[in-house]
Amino acid sequence: MNTHAPKWLDNAIFYEIYPQSFLDTDGDGIGNIRGVTEKLDYIKELGCNAIWLNPCFASPFTDAGYDVADYCRVAERYGTNEDLAALFDAAHQRGMHVILDLVPGHTSVEHPWFKASMQPEKNEMSDRYIWTDSIWESVDCLPCLRGISQRDGSVAVNFFSTQPALNYGFYQPEKPWQQAMDAPGPLATREAMKDVMRFWLQMGCDGFRVDMAGSLVKNDPDGLGTIALWQDFRAFLDKEFPDAAMISEWGEPDKSLLGGFHMDFLLQFGPSHYNDLFRCDEPFFSRRGKGSAKEFIATYNKNVEKTNGKGLICIPSGNHDMDRMARRLDDDEMKIAFAFLLTMPGAPFLYYGDEIGLRHVENLTSVEGGYDRTGARSPMQWTKGLNAGFSSAPCNALYIAQDPNPDRPDVASHMADRTSLWREVQRLIGFRLAHSALQSNGSITFLTDSLPLCYLRRDETETILAVINPAAAPTSVTLDGITPTKLCCTTGASAEADGSTIRIDGATAAFFVV
Ligand code: NOJ
Repeated sequence: MNTHAPKWLDNAIFYEIYPQSFLDTDGDGIGNIRGVTEKLDYIKELGCNAIWLNPCFASPFTDAGYDVADYCRVAERYGTNEDLAALFDAAHQRGMHVILDLVPGHTSVEHPWFKASMQPEKNEMSDRYIWTDSIWESVDCLPCLRGISQRDGSVAVNFFSTQPALNYGFYQPEKPWQQAMDAPGPLATREAMKDVMRFWLQMGCDGFRVDMAGSLVKNDPDGLGTIALWQDFRAFLDKEFPDAAMISEWGEPDKSLLGGFHMDFLLQFGPSHYNDLFRCDEPFFSRRGKGSAKEFIATYNKNVEKTNGKGLICIPSGNHDMDRMARRLDDDEMKIAFAFLLTMPGAPFLYYGDEIGLRHVENLTSVEGGYDRTGARSPMQWTKGLNAGFSSAPCNALYIAQDPNPDRPDVASHMADRTSLWREVQRLIGFRLAHSALQSNGSITFLTDSLPLCYLRRDETETILAVINPAAAPTSVTLDGITPTKLCCTTGASAEADGSTIRIDGATAAFFVV
C-alpha cells in the first residue's frame, strides 16, 4: 500500500451505512446520526471496525444526498454537526473509524455557489461551474442545463440534471469557455473542496469515500489531469492530515492509486465482471454451479498487476446503487460469498443488512432519486417488533417501505441462531482478523478460476490456501507443489487434504495453512 496509508487500514473492515435507513431514534420515520452512534456496539460485535457513512449533508435530496446544498452542515433530518462529532468520538473510543462521503464532482442546484453562479453579473462563483459562453452553445462533452437563469450560457451536469458539475478545468481546453486546470476559477474550486475536507477532518472524521473521483477534470481521456488534481489533494492531506484515509469510487485502480488514493472500489458497472459472481442469472456463488468466475479473475488479476505496491482494490458485498445480494443468493450461498469477500485483499465493505441477508424490496416507487436502487435502500430490520425495530413512526410514514414479508430476516433472530448468516459473517470476520495474511495487504495468487476456486493469501508470517466450492456437488482438486498442513476454517460442510489433493464438499469454503 502506498506510503501514506494510515495503519488502521491494514485490518479495516468497513460497514456501509445509508443513514436514512439504519435506525430512527426520534420517531420521524427516517434514520439519523444518533441511531448510528447507538448501534456502534452492534457493528463492533459483528466485527467491523470502520464505517462509511453515505452523504448526510444538507440537501434537497433529489439524489438521496449526493446533491449537496451545504458541504459543512449535517442535514437537519439526520441531526446536527454536534451529533456527527459525537459519532466520531464514540467510534474512536471503541477503536473504530468513520469515513464520510465526499461528493466533489457536483453540487445540488440549490447550493449557494450554484445560485450565485447562475447570476448574469460576474461574481466570485461565476467560474465555480462549467458554463459555455452562450445559451445557444451546449457543453459538448457532457449533458447540460439550459435556460435555467438569465445567465447567457449552458451549464454542465455531472449526473442527474439537478447536479451541476463543479469546475476543476479541462485537461485540454479546446473552446474559449473551457478553462485550463490552473485557471483561477478551477483553482478556487479545488481550494474550496480542500476547505470541506479540512472542516470534517478537524472535527474528527478519519477520511473519505470519494464519489465519482475520476470525473473531476473534463476532456481528460487518460485521466492525467484528474490524477494530478488528486495528487495535489493528497499533498494537502499529507501536510495537514497525513492519517486521512482516501477511498475512491473510480474503478480504475491504476489511475486512482497514482492519484494518492489508498484503495479503489471494484465497481459493479464497467469491465469488472463483479456481477458475474453475485448478481446475474447464474451467479458464480450459486449452488447451481453454472456461473463462471473466469472473466472476473482475469480482470482482477490484470488490475492487481497494475496496482501492485501502490495500493489496493476493495470489493463490497453490495451498496446503495446495486441490487441486494439476497436477490439472487440465499443465506447459505451468501455464507460462501462472504467466505470469499472476507478473505480478499483490500478492506472488505459490508453493506448494512447484508449480514442478515436483507432482501431487495421489490416493486417500490422510487424514493429521492433511488429509481431501481430503491429496493436496496430499505430500512434495517433489527427485531420482530414494530417496523422491525427501525422506527416508532407509523408504518406508512417510513422513508422507504420495508420488506412486507412476514418471514423477513431480523438482527435479533440472526444473533440468537448459532447457524445463521450473521453468525457466519461474524466468525469469518474473526478469522480474517486473526490472520494477517488475510488482511488488506497480504498478497493474492489465484491457482484456479473455476470450481473449486483456489487462491493463496500470503504475507511475511504465513500462507493461507482458500478452496471455495459454491456448487452443490462435492469436488476435488490437485494443486501441484502445494501441500496444505492444517485446515483452519470452514464455511458450509467440510474438506480434507491428502498431499496436494483437496476434496471438498458442496457449498463449502475451506481454508488451510500451507
Ligand atoms: C455514485 C453514488 O454512489 C450514487 O448513489 C450517486 O447517485 C452518484 N454517484 C452521483 O453522485
